[in-house]
Amino acid sequence: MSQTLKAVRGTRDLLPPETELWNRIEATARSVFARYHFGEIRTPIFEDTGLFARGVGAETDIVSKEMYTWEDRARAQSEKPQSLTLRPENTAGVVRAYIEHKLGESGQLQKLYYIGPQFRRERPQKGRYRQFFQIGAEVIGPQSSGSESPLRDAEVLEMLATLLDELGITGWTLQINSVGSSADRERYNAALREALIPVKEKMCADCQRRAELNPLRVLDCKVPEDQPIIETLPKIVDSLDQESKDHFAAVITALDAAGVPYTRNHRLVRGLDYYTRTTFEFTHGGLGAQNALLGGGRYDGLSENIGGPKAPGIGFAMGLDRLVLTLQAQEADQKSASPQGIDGYIAPMGNAKDAEKLAAINAAGLALARELRRAGLRIELGEGSFRLKKSFEAADKCARRIVILGEDELASGILTVKDFSTSVQTKVPRAELAEFLRN
Ligand code: HAM
Repeated sequence: MSQTLKAVRGTRDLLPPETELWNRIEATARSVFARYHFGEIRTPIFEDTGLFARGVGAETDIVSKEMYTWEDRARAQSEKPQSLTLRPENTAGVVRAYIEHKLGESGQLQKLYYIGPQFRRERPQKGRYRQFFQIGAEVIGPQSSGSESPLRDAEVLEMLATLLDELGITGWTLQINSVGSSADRERYNAALREALIPVKEKMCADCQRRAELNPLRVLDCKVPEDQPIIETLPKIVDSLDQESKDHFAAVITALDAAGVPYTRNHRLVRGLDYYTRTTFEFTHGGLGAQNALLGGGRYDGLSENIGGPKAPGIGFAMGLDRLVLTLQAQEADQKSASPQGIDGYIAPMGNAKDAEKLAAINAAGLALARELRRAGLRIELGEGSFRLKKSFEAADKCARRIVILGEDELASGILTVKDFSTSVQTKVPRAELAEFLRN
């Protein structure tokens, strides 16, 4: 016997009714983005590998360990095969498109959002998958468009607070920090490296390695024994130049004025190399170890790093899978009292032994379902050969009400409707049925 095929590790099928929640989240995001004057961009699922190496950073975990990369077949023998990669994130692709289509030449600020799959070869666990979905947005433009202003940072954060509230997500925390300019970060890296020399021997193996290669990453360490040591290390805020300090102060002032709550986290450095100045994450306690609902920050040098003009920007990406997990947990907590399900289940009642009559009552069922669905109702259509008990069981699983359509009902034009939440049975004339089911 041949082996049963399954979805690849770290990927999953999304099935109804869960997909309804996915659609609801996406629709809410689109509606909020439209109010803030964002337009949608769709970039390819795979890109030249060099885009991520130069954009996200060759030393990052994402690029050095987690990408799905392959050599494309060369078209001609003289040609070198091109290295391609499934996108691990979308910011680099959006900035590539910004450069390729010369979007900066309009002089306008570009406000672009995206919804789609991303791929990282991480160890799968709750809230962490190898194919996962992001809803993200980027605000980018030439300096003359005001793209560097701290107001843009604050507006993006205020929009995210609004979006999470409109999605009904409660209990989120906004953590915010500044990683400064690249010169600030070089200074800070040097200060950290220096401070780590006398203490690194007491730290975990990962930190000992990071202390040499990328001291900033030491701040991400989760090993409990290392925490008291990390707390004694210099803080990045002390390495910021005056401009970066002023920028961060202006973001904080605007957040206070808008009433968006936040926590300053001087260890929030993020795992992508393109960040400058503001970095942030929205976390949620209900998610466990993978507690980041979303992350983002400013990337004033990214466009130049991948060969484009100067184009400061700021953006974020939310983990759609994690938004779904959070809302599902909240909804299970609330155990909603309102009746769930579609508007009606039509149960044609025929005689399984009389093929002609059975066909007639099923046909009448289809005609009635068509009428109600065209009136905008969500309807399931049963099957005339089912016994009454079987129809009731099937209806109870998916609908708020069952509509009985037997030969008598067909002849009289009066249908019997039973409401599952109240157990009340009502006789309804066919002409009034749509209105009755709507209420
Ligand atoms: P990121 O922090 O790597 O940032 O990812 C953003 C969000 O995507 C995370 O907070 C998380 O919710 C979700 N996520 C990441 N990896 C996984 C995974 N393996 N499974 C499920 N969810 C995941 C970025 O991707 C940046 N491009 C964000 C950005 C946009 N910065 C500026 N503009």
